Amino acid sequence: MRKAHTLKLVLPLASAGSLLILVLVIFFCCKRRARNELHDVESKEQKQVEESELEALATFSGGQDLTICDILEAPGEVIGKSNYGTLYKASLQRSSMVRLLRFLRPVCTIGGEEFDDTIQLLGCIRHPNLVPLLGFYAGPRGEKLLIHPFYRRGDLAQFIRDGSVEPHKWTIIYRISIGIARGLEHLHTGLLKPVVHGNLKSKNILLDRNYQPYISDFGLHLLLNLTTGQEMLEALAAQGYKAPELIKMRDASEKTDIYSLGIILLELLSGKEPVNEKPTADEDFYLPNFMRNAVLDHRIAELCHPDILPRNSRERGNPVTEEVILKFFQLAMACCSPSPSLRPDIRQVLQKLEEIER
Ligand SMILES: *[C@@H]1O[C@H](CO)[C@@H](O)[C@H](O)[C@H]1NC(C)=O
Repeated sequence: MRKAHTLKLVLPLASAGSLLILVLVIFFCCKRRARNELHDVESKEQKQVEESELEALATFSGGQDLTICDILEAPGEVIGKSNYGTLYKASLQRSSMVRLLRFLRPVCTIGGEEFDDTIQLLGCIRHPNLVPLLGFYAGPRGEKLLIHPFYRRGDLAQFIRDGSVEPHKWTIIYRISIGIARGLEHLHTGLLKPVVHGNLKSKNILLDRNYQPYISDFGLHLLLNLTTGQEMLEALAAQGYKAPELIKMRDASEKTDIYSLGIILLELLSGKEPVNEKPTADEDFYLPNFMRNAVLDHRIAELCHPDILPRNSRERGNPVTEEVILKFFQLAMACCSPSPSLRPDIRQVLQKLEEIER
């Protein structure tokens, strides 16, 4: 039975080029378990030395019951890939929990104490709108695996464009917007030192079944080497979330996060992609420019998805008015201001969002 499970995780990981490494890890892992049972009297100190040479598991709040074998024996399914790593949906056998495993390519990460300190920092961040880091596994050859909860409803980018009516209901748009702002407020103002997200986009907002949003991937850029961080930034630019003044990932700031947040708010409002690959003559490549032009040309109806504010909305008791939509739009546009000094900070964003519904 165990053999079959082992194989399932090993196969997808093999595509990340780690077949041999993982087989070794699993071998050591299971061998050690057997050995520990046999040699219970072995001095604790000696055991710890051996473990640090082979592998290590750090667990954080909510992940205390994780074990190395749990993680490495879990059947895994690849659900995402980037140049710096692979995401797996894994079912832990003992607890029958589903977890998200993020495998980081050793060559793409920074090393040593700075990495460990950052993991400790990220592992302690808890907020109802942030995806927690439950555990971190380091393998004998530098493999790095971050363990997170799994959210079944998927990410906000899919949700906005899945063709159903829910993504264009004002109450849901508002709930998601407030939740993202609260999560980001915690990162920017609720910690000893602010954590800049660095890669905020609708793909990195996960949803639960009540449409509560959870921000994922915050601070991940702090774990990556300069080259890889820069590649992450280029991807963010290509997807339309990068603030215009941001050139180097290490210069990412609260202000550049706010820009990305503004794009997400515009995405929620319009149902459109942040970049329009095939714009027509009166459209613009970038969503904020498109929206700005729409206002200048009095094409107000194009600001929001037609389902949010139908023509006969008043008779149908729609919970949202044109005035509310306009305030939301202005806030989003202020966040996307080309000049960083004109962007509101996250406290102001949250305050404005809360005022909108008052
Ligand atoms: C950083 O990561 C890249 C992969 O994105 C790798 O090719 C490169 O060797 C790494 N650079 C350093 C300095 O470790």
